Amino acid sequence: MWGAATSAHQVEGGNFNDWSEWEKKSAQAENYISGRACDHYNLYEQDFDIAKSLGHNAHRFSIEWSRVEPEQGKFNEAELGHYCRVISALRERGLEPFVTLWHFTLPLWAAEQGGWQNKKTAEDFCRYVEKVVGAFKPEVKFWIILNEPDVYPAESYLKGAWPPQKKNIFAYLKVIKNLSKAHKTAYEIIKKIEPEAQVGIAKNNIYFEPYKNKLINLCLKKLADWWCNFYFLNRIKNFQDFIGLNYYFHNLINCGFSKNENKIVSDMGWELYPQGIYYILKDLQKYQKPIYITENGLADSQDQKRAWFIKETLRSVHQAIEEGVDVRGYFHWSLLDNFEWDKGFWPRFGLVEIDYKTLERKVRPSAWEYARICKNNELNL
Ligand code: FCB
Repeated sequence: MWGAATSAHQVEGGNFNDWSEWEKKSAQAENYISGRACDHYNLYEQDFDIAKSLGHNAHRFSIEWSRVEPEQGKFNEAELGHYCRVISALRERGLEPFVTLWHFTLPLWAAEQGGWQNKKTAEDFCRYVEKVVGAFKPEVKFWIILNEPDVYPAESYLKGAWPPQKKNIFAYLKVIKNLSKAHKTAYEIIKKIEPEAQVGIAKNNIYFEPYKNKLINLCLKKLADWWCNFYFLNRIKNFQDFIGLNYYFHNLINCGFSKNENKIVSDMGWELYPQGIYYILKDLQKYQKPIYITENGLADSQDQKRAWFIKETLRSVHQAIEEGVDVRGYFHWSLLDNFEWDKGFWPRFGLVEIDYKTLERKVRPSAWEYARICKNNELNL
C-alpha cells in the first residue's frame, strides 16, 4: 500500500482541545496557533483528489476525539457523520483508510481530569473507541489505536515541552502504563466488534548505531533499544495484528553521547539517515507481524531533499523485504504541510505545499516522483 499520513489537529483547523487551549496561552506568535490550519476539515475532498492523482491507494488520518465526544459521555452524531463522509470520500477514490484513534490531543474534559495520568481517561478512551469502531466498522479495516505512545509521554511528562508540560518521572511512567492499558482494552473491544479488523499502533523507533562496535556502545545500544524501541511493543505484543512504524531518527551511540555526523539535515536540524530504516525493520522481524511504515518524512521547504530521501528510504525498505521482512505499506509524512506541534507552522513536511493565507494547495515536484513509485509499485533502482 502506498500513501501519506496526516493527523486531525495538525490539518483540520477549528479544533477545541487541550492543545488549542495551550497554544493560545503559550504561543509567542500567531504562527504557533493551529487556528484554521489547512482547513482540511472542509477541504478533505480536494485533498483526497490530490492523493488519488498522486497514485496513492491508501491514506492514514486521525479522528479527533474532542469533536466526537465534546462532553464526557455525550457523543456528537454530526461529527461522527463528518468522519463517515471522510471515510466514504477515501473509499470512493480507491484509498484504503488507516484510521488513527488517538494522535496526541485530548478533549478538554479529559485533560482536566488529569489526562493520561488518570486511569479514568483510559476507560473513557475505550468507550470512545467502542463508539467509533461500532459506527465505522464496515468501512474501515485498519485501525491504529495510539500514535507514538512513547514520544508523547516523554515530551509531555518528562521534557515538559508539550501540554501539560510536566517534568516528573513518576507521572511519565504512569502515563505509559495507562496508555498500554488503554491499548490492550481497546484492542479487545475492536476485535470483539469486528474480528476481521487489523489493529496496531504507530510506534516511533530510533536506529541506535553503536560507534565502532565498542563493547560499551553495544551495551548502551541494548539498553536504548530495550527502553525506546521495544518496551511498549513488548507490553502489547499479544494485542496487535500489525506493527506501524514511524521512522525519523538515527542516534550514533558513543560512550553515552550521541555523536551524529549530521552530514545531511532537514530544515529542523534532524539528521537525514534513510538507511537506518533497514536495521529497524530487521529488528522488528522478531514480532512476526506484518509491518506498515505509518510515518516517514522530513521538513524541507525548498523540496530539495525530499525525493532523494523517499527513494533512499524505500531502497532500504526494499532490501529488508528481500531479506524476508514482511513490509506491506508506506505512508509518507505528510500529505500536506501542517501544524507541527510546539514548532508551529514553519516546518514544511508536505508532499503538497499549503499557502496558509489563501489555503491554496500546490503539489511539490518530489510528490510526482513519489507518485511514479506508487503508480508502478516499483522502485527503479
Ligand atoms: C511524529 C508525529 C507527527 C509529526 C511528525 C513530524 O512524531 O507523529 O504528528 O509531528 O512527527
